[in-house]
Amino acid sequence: MPTFELTVNGQAQALTVSHTASLLHVLRNDLGLNGPKYGCGLGQCGACTVWVDGVAARACVIPAHGVAGRAITTLEGLGSRGDWHPVQQAFEDAQAAQCGYCLNGMVMQAAALLAREPHPDAARIRSELSGNLCRCGTHVEILDAVHRAVV
Ligand code: FES
Repeated sequence: MPTFELTVNGQAQALTVSHTASLLHVLRNDLGLNGPKYGCGLGQCGACTVWVDGVAARACVIPAHGVAGRAITTLEGLGSRGDWHPVQQAFEDAQAAQCGYCLNGMVMQAAALLAREPHPDAARIRSELSGNLCRCGTHVEILDAVHRAVV
């Protein structure tokens, strides 16, 4: 099993995990970070989205050892109660959750977009979130939340 280091939410982590362990598995099962969710496991739903060096990525299809030395940010690293990231705050303000399972991916993807492009228009926001699925159909509230976060 490979041994390697990751920086997760600003903290160095030394890990020894199997070659087949996904980044999502390591974050949830070894590091107890349950913000990223297991949805499809195939890179198709976005529930597992994290940032790798600031870029939104699907943790379920990334081998953990493949991101050795990189900086990983999870929902927990984005903000916390009392100190929410503006996108997290906007989702709360917009009451954008129904079951909430997709919200990790929606928030991480939207926050990555706004970090790159602070003033995206509606079409750009829709395009950015088009790969993040919400089975409840809460897309109207989710898009409203992202618009609220645009300053
Ligand atoms: Fe990773 Fe669906 S669980 S994209």
